[in-house]
Amino acid sequence: MFDRVKLPESVKIVEVGPRDGLQNEKQLISLQAKIQLIDELALAGVKFIETGSFVSPKWVPQMADSAMVFKSLNRRAGVCYSALTPNLQGFAAALDAGVDEVAIFGSASESFSQKNINCSVAESLARFQPLVEQARLQGMQVRAYVSCVLGCPYEGDIAPTTVATLAKALFDMGCYEVSLGDTIGTGTPSKTAALLDAVLPLLSPDKIAVHFHDTFGQAIANILVALQYGISVIDSSVAGLGGCPYAKGAAGNVATEDVVYMLNGMNISTGIDLIKLCKAGDKIMQQLGRTTQSKAALAILSSIP
Ligand code: HMG
Ligand code: MG
Repeated sequence: MFDRVKLPESVKIVEVGPRDGLQNEKQLISLQAKIQLIDELALAGVKFIETGSFVSPKWVPQMADSAMVFKSLNRRAGVCYSALTPNLQGFAAALDAGVDEVAIFGSASESFSQKNINCSVAESLARFQPLVEQARLQGMQVRAYVSCVLGCPYEGDIAPTTVATLAKALFDMGCYEVSLGDTIGTGTPSKTAALLDAVLPLLSPDKIAVHFHDTFGQAIANILVALQYGISVIDSSVAGLGGCPYAKGAAGNVATEDVVYMLNGMNISTGIDLIKLCKAGDKIMQQLGRTTQSKAALAILSSIP
């Protein structure tokens, strides 16, 4: 299994902290703190930042100011600032706010689809289709997520073939990349390998990203498996921020600092300055009054004066 393909020489990190991370915070975070976090991530060399989401403010209050976040951004050259959009209403708002790219988010589990976006999987595909068409007319790229790829909070195990079929449908709809989300972080390296064995015959590794939450501390191990399958796009969240409001108990995404530390040690480039990244994570965690979830950040920050 592990010698299937060569490891990638470089990895694209998709930083999801400002969206997937902050969406789960109960206390409202100021616009200024969000803008500062996003800018510090860009200054640390992060080139792809999921900056907000255009969803119902009743469902996710923390993201209610996403339009303001986009309008107030200090845009840095070469950085893609993206947002989640569940439907045409969200897409129109995202377009108006000046997003660079949007992402649609489906689920491999029917129950999670209902809890998260209030519709069945089939209905979600019908909603996404015109959104993707609109985006393409605007010359905008669309990313897709599949949630619950390694387990659902309501249904338990999910068949890898179900994930593979949905991922292919989203790609065929016109999305350029499909991010496989272990929403509740129950995956293990063996489950990750079984998933990729089902998905990669339908979609090549350059069309796939991995998105691991770290509830059981398995995310780094799972990422290592994905790298060995030739995947070179990794979603992560600075300081390990986050969770999912519709997946109770799920921890944040794997910490970007831990991923970058591992990749640096494997001579796989990301273009990210690890010290600056750790400082960005430290600042937002101080604002939230918590300690980082990143072991690499803890070690690095304690060693600098
Ligand atoms: P709904 O209630 O079925 O929507 O929600 P509706 O079309 O019936 O409209 C009802 C109301 O919502 C109306 O307002 C609409 O205007 C409003 P009212 O007339 O009652 O005042 N509305 C909107 N408002 C703002 N933006 C919109 C929008 N659409 C409708 N785009 C909906 C359906 C999808 C909107 C809702 O379920 C929702 O917002 N869900 C989002 C949930 C969410 O953001 N979850 C977290 C992100 S997913 C995730 O974290 C997983 C991921 O990280 C990958 C992984 O880890 O696996 C991506
Ligand atoms: Mg997520």
